[in-house]
Amino acid sequence: MRRRTVLAAGAAGAAGAAAALAGGTSASAAVRSGAASTTGDIAGHPDRTAPLRDLAARIGLRFGTALIPQDIETPSYAAIASSQFSVVTPGNGMKWQIVEPEPGVYDWSEADQLVEFAAANKQLVRGHTLVWHNQLPDWLTTGVANGSISTSQLWDLLHNHITTEVSRYRGRIWQWDVCNEFFLDADPSGLDPNNFWIAALGPDVIPNAFQWAHEADPDALLFYNDYNIGGEDGTNAKSDAVYAYAQQLLGDGVPIDGIGNQGHLDTQYGWSPQLLQQDLVRYAGLGLKVAITEADVRTFVNNPTDQVPTDNLALFAHPYEYSEMLKAALTVPELISFTVWGFTDSDSWVPGTFAGEGYAGIYDVNQNPKAAYYSLQSDLALAAYGAPRRIRTYTPRA
Ligand code: XIL
Repeated sequence: MRRRTVLAAGAAGAAGAAAALAGGTSASAAVRSGAASTTGDIAGHPDRTAPLRDLAARIGLRFGTALIPQDIETPSYAAIASSQFSVVTPGNGMKWQIVEPEPGVYDWSEADQLVEFAAANKQLVRGHTLVWHNQLPDWLTTGVANGSISTSQLWDLLHNHITTEVSRYRGRIWQWDVCNEFFLDADPSGLDPNNFWIAALGPDVIPNAFQWAHEADPDALLFYNDYNIGGEDGTNAKSDAVYAYAQQLLGDGVPIDGIGNQGHLDTQYGWSPQLLQQDLVRYAGLGLKVAITEADVRTFVNNPTDQVPTDNLALFAHPYEYSEMLKAALTVPELISFTVWGFTDSDSWVPGTFAGEGYAGIYDVNQNPKAAYYSLQSDLALAAYGAPRRIRTYTPRA
């Protein structure tokens, strides 16, 4: 049977269309029928209430989240994860502690689950992270501490770890966080001499890691990732050090493609969106891509379960800092992805890590979107379509 248009369908069809409009489900139907829409299209601009990933797609930006297994296995969480985000990062599933819990014994189940979820939902993947001082397996840290793992064995273990993991997911990872958190929070900053890897193997660990990752997957974009390098540190000393170091790596021909700014903010501290923008522009000026990789905004809360901010002003600081972070990012064309570190307060890492703090995500503990979600959505809509021209403008009488 041929499909009938609303007009051809007569009264019954028109009633159906009216019902659909009343339900507020179809903004484009409103435009087609000439009815005014309160939520959707205005003057041909697509729906401003579209999912974050759809709005971001209009400007070529990937909007992402970290995921833990619970986000994939709980249907209500998975629905948000799949509909709102176009790039995903494993919260833990690709860290050394998880993928090689015993020497030579690999467990790829969490990493595979994430990569398969991404493929099923047309999402890209940020691999996280190959070389970090945290979440290393006990057998490795103990072996290094007691000398049963020698320096040359540790070099081999690291080479093998990077090659094995990157090769396994070759062609399926868009960006890899190759090295994570190597710089000091100090003025001046620099590579932390007490970092597990620097202390054990010296600074060559970083260029070697990038080279080995590149050999295992020449198409993956290779990132250096860190915190306090995008406007959090008033002196900007850590950002200066990372910038100088990235410049040196590039000069040495090391295959580095980007800098990841984690973006873990806390409403109790100062932070400058203008400085974030300058820092991103500066990294990009080296010919690198940039990304916001772990955005969240924590604040003090009543308890870890309900996570109600104890200071009412935090309700305003929270969406403000998310929005300013995104807007700074949007002004930089080399910024290719903006990722939040988990979307919902109910499984955020914050309450378990920062005593007394929470409310860090863009969805609340019941998986409802918070003010921050709507701020990001508006920012993306403005970036995608621009502010629509006013419907009526004043015309002076002759
Ligand atoms: C965090 C995870 O979210 C937690 O579940 C885990 O217990 C510790 O690590 N910077 C990073 C991330 O690069 O890997 C960290 O993730 C958060 C800080």
